[in-house]
Order: sequence, then structure tokens, then C-alpha cells
Amino acid sequence: MQETQPAATAVPAKKPVVFSGIQPTGTMTLGNYLGAVRNWVQMQDDYDCIYPIVDMHSLTIRQEPKVLRSNILNAFALLLACGIDPQKSVTFIQSHVDNHAVLSWVLGCSTQFGELSRMTQFKDKSAKHADNINAGLFTYPVLMAADILLYQTDLVPVGVDQKQHLELTRDVAIRFNNLYGNTFKVPEAYIPKAGAKIMSLADPTKKMSKSDENPNGFITILDPADTIIRKFKRAVTDSEAQVVYREGKDGINNLMTIYSCVTGKTMEEIQREFDGKGYGDFKLAVGEVVADHLKPIRENFARLSADKGYLEEVYRRGAQQAQQRSSRTMEKVFRKIGFVR
Ligand code: TRP
Repeated sequence: MQETQPAATAVPAKKPVVFSGIQPTGTMTLGNYLGAVRNWVQMQDDYDCIYPIVDMHSLTIRQEPKVLRSNILNAFALLLACGIDPQKSVTFIQSHVDNHAVLSWVLGCSTQFGELSRMTQFKDKSAKHADNINAGLFTYPVLMAADILLYQTDLVPVGVDQKQHLELTRDVAIRFNNLYGNTFKVPEAYIPKAGAKIMSLADPTKKMSKSDENPNGFITILDPADTIIRKFKRAVTDSEAQVVYREGKDGINNLMTIYSCVTGKTMEEIQREFDGKGYGDFKLAVGEVVADHLKPIRENFARLSADKGYLEEVYRRGAQQAQQRSSRTMEKVFRKIGFVR
């Protein structure tokens, strides 16, 4: 064999940067997992991924300090339990990296009051928390823009509810680049192939949510197997007794989506598998595959949350990496805007 030239392999092609964040809310539903985090896990080999717990964002809603602290640590442990691998990805706690707040201030001065006023999430949240319409709730999308732009992000996996914020991020980046010269990569939304929207088991016309007053409507990824199976058995369906994916069959469509996400089977395969069988069999099958799929996550979580030392080591190292990478952008920004360095 001829010897290969080392120079050709020495410079590997740079992988596109992927950034997404998750708020520390205490629990993660099956919907959050299948709709977001599982895709993040799958992207780790092909992309340069950055996944923080965005604790600063959660201050926009009033928080109980003790609960928040434990939610942040649990959320971090949960990310790792789901398969976010700190050897492959940068994972950290947002407030550990000062640059997020600093860039957020700078970008806030390049964002118009009018454009923030148009954010539908701001309107929804201020209606919901009418007693606490704080300035942070209003400028939340600017902090999100700072998160993304700090890392010269190429792709942002987001659900539909965050698309407007990503559009704003792009507008702000383009405006800044035009004004000061090229500074930020303009990111694209990444809608994963299997970007499933998981609906409530109790009312399949509503998105699955942990704030559902009916606990049978949602599965959390730490639910024990018997709870999961019981909730699926009670899932609302229709009276047709036919496992087919079709308009008007919201309950069955949702169960088929979940089953397909977890097993990788197509809708046609699922339809064939349950041809002639009743909904009871199908619901049990969905419950069982979900329970099996979540079992290792539950076990990982128990192991990780008992090892605070390890968790601390991981989030410290993650913050160092994030600090280093984001400082490059920050230096560039300071120079461009005319600050003295
Ligand atoms: N706003 C996002 C949410 O509530 C969380 C988030 C914060 C985020 N910063 C981000 C998502 C940056 C993607 C990229 O779900």
C-alpha cells in the first residue's frame, strides 16, 4: 500500500454547529423528549453540538429559589441520562457563562421595541402571568438570540413555538452584520425529519404538556413502567376500532406517532401489525415500547443524580468550553462596536 499523506487527513472538515437550549422545569414529558431531546442526542455524531440548560430564561417566570436550584441540577442530570454525551457535545448551565448576559445587552440595543412587541409568546405569557409582566419576559428573545449567536451557530433545532424567536435572531444578526461588518453566522432553523409533535393522551387535540391539570394526559420520562402502561391504557381514542392513521383520528394518530418514533416503524407497518386487533392490544403495545425505551433513561438518571461530584465536574468543564468558545465572538463584537479593549 502506498503511504497516505498526513496533511490530507490532518485538517478534518468542520462540522456545522448546532445549538439548542432547554429550560429547567422540573420534569420532561415524553413530548419534550420525542419532539426535541432525542433528536439532539441523534445529532451528536454529525454536528458540533452545544446544549445548555437555560436557567436565565426561567427567571422570566417567578421561581422558588430552592426549587429552581434542584430543577437545574435535575434538568442537567436528565440531559445526560437521555444520552447527551459530554465527550461529544458541549453541555453546561447558561448562567455559568457570563457572555450570554453580556451579548444579550449589546443585542438588545440592536433590537426594536416594536419587533419584541410582536412576539406571540410574549403576548401569551403576559396574558397568563398578568401580575408579573417583567422586562425580562419582554427581552427574552434577545437572550435567546445571544445564546445562539455567541457560538456562530449554523443550525437550531426548534419546535414551531420557537420559530418566531429564531426569525428574530436572524433579523438581529443580519442587521448587526450590515451595520458593523460581518460578525455573526446567520443561523437556520432545523426541523428534524422525525420532528414529532406529541399530543395529550387525555385530549389529543392539545399538545402534551406537564401543566395539564389531568395527569393522565402526559407521560414524564421518569414515570415508572406501570404508570406509563396505565396512562396509555386510558388514552382517549375513537369508537372505530381500526389502527389507521387518518384525519379525524387524533387519538390513534398520536399513539401511532409515538409508536413509530420509538420503534422506527412506518405508519403502514404499524397498520399491518395491528390489522384486526383491537385498541386494547394497540394501547398496551405502545405503553410497553415506551416503558422499555424509557427504562435505561430512568436508571441513568438515578445513577447520575446520586453522583453530584460527577455532575459538577461535567458542568464545570462544559462551562469552561462554552466560555472559551463564546469569548471569541464576544471579543469580535466588542471590537466592532467600538469598545476599548
Ligand atoms: N426559548 C426556548 C424554549 O423555551 C429555550 C431556549 C433558550 C433556546 N435559548 C435557546 C432554544 C436557544 C433554542 C436556542 O424552549
